[in-house]
Amino acid sequence: MQDLNELKVSINAIKDEIVNGVKELTNSKALYEFKKTFLDSKAGKINALMKEMKNIPNEMKAEFGKNVNELKTWAGEKFDELDVQMKEAESKQRYENEKIDITMPAVKCKCGKLHPVTQVRNQLIDVFGSMGFEVYDNFEIENEYYNLTALNIPQDHPARDMQDTFYLSPDYLLISQTSAAQIHVMENKKPPLKILSPGKVFRSDDDATHSPMFTQMEGLVVDKGITLCDLKGMLDLLVKKIFGEGTTTRLRPSYFPFTEPSVEVDVSCFECGGKGCRLCKGTGWIEVLGAGIVNKKVLENCGIDSEEYSGLAFGVGIERLAMLKYGINNIKLLYESDLRVLEQLDD
Ligand code: PHE
Repeated sequence: MQDLNELKVSINAIKDEIVNGVKELTNSKALYEFKKTFLDSKAGKINALMKEMKNIPNEMKAEFGKNVNELKTWAGEKFDELDVQMKEAESKQRYENEKIDITMPAVKCKCGKLHPVTQVRNQLIDVFGSMGFEVYDNFEIENEYYNLTALNIPQDHPARDMQDTFYLSPDYLLISQTSAAQIHVMENKKPPLKILSPGKVFRSDDDATHSPMFTQMEGLVVDKGITLCDLKGMLDLLVKKIFGEGTTTRLRPSYFPFTEPSVEVDVSCFECGGKGCRLCKGTGWIEVLGAGIVNKKVLENCGIDSEEYSGLAFGVGIERLAMLKYGINNIKLLYESDLRVLEQLDD
């Protein structure tokens, strides 16, 4: 470069290049890179102009320097101004993208919970566990002896028809009652005994309130001097826990081959308080379970001296309690795992 005219041409060219170049830029990062091609202390085009100073005659050097510095200031201001604009737009965009609507209702986290049958089973275990009962898990397949014969239901006894049992072979069957557990416990443990045995039971029975598979809980106490009073006291606690403090029980005579005397246990209607309603069919009472004093023959079948010891036993259908408690009129609803139903069944 020889003179100021040539410099002016270069300055105008650079200005044009900047003015047109920034139009293409879309973000502050690109602007920064573009700015460097002009103002970088080593490779920048404007700084390169300054280096031409050495070729300029001395009397023009001051003017030359002034012009280049003006260009430098102009470019610097232009880039700064654009940088502010672009960064503002970028942060606005970022806020827009990351905006949180704090008035939006929270997404509720769905928590799993226990099935109503399991809840009722656990409540029973809680009540009787607090009275010192142990839980005994029994088999689902037994031979006839444990499910029937030892429970004083001999071959050809009409009581065998009471429950339609599923036979797997002439000798083996799916248990039709948790009472089978009584025999195993009494064969293996010496009194005093207090056991609970929850389990699935199977019967050829199928309608709105019966299912071929359902859950029972057996209770057995064997000790000296056990009477129906002990049974009533324990069952009163059971119904209070499941149906509420205001409920009580009533015992009615019944028949089971393995208990003598046998009773059918009713709970006072928790819906109407005993006045009579649709649930209790106007009677004020609802039948909930079977129970009795263990038949001496059953104690003796298990090698327990029936002169020294007596026992009480009860067997309760857990689905039946759950249906009453939650107002369910079809047992199948408890097995279909329809979340819309299950979500409504809770304490
Ligand atoms: N096992 C009887 C039933 O399934 C219930 C029961 C158990 C009755 C214990 C008396 C004593 O119906």
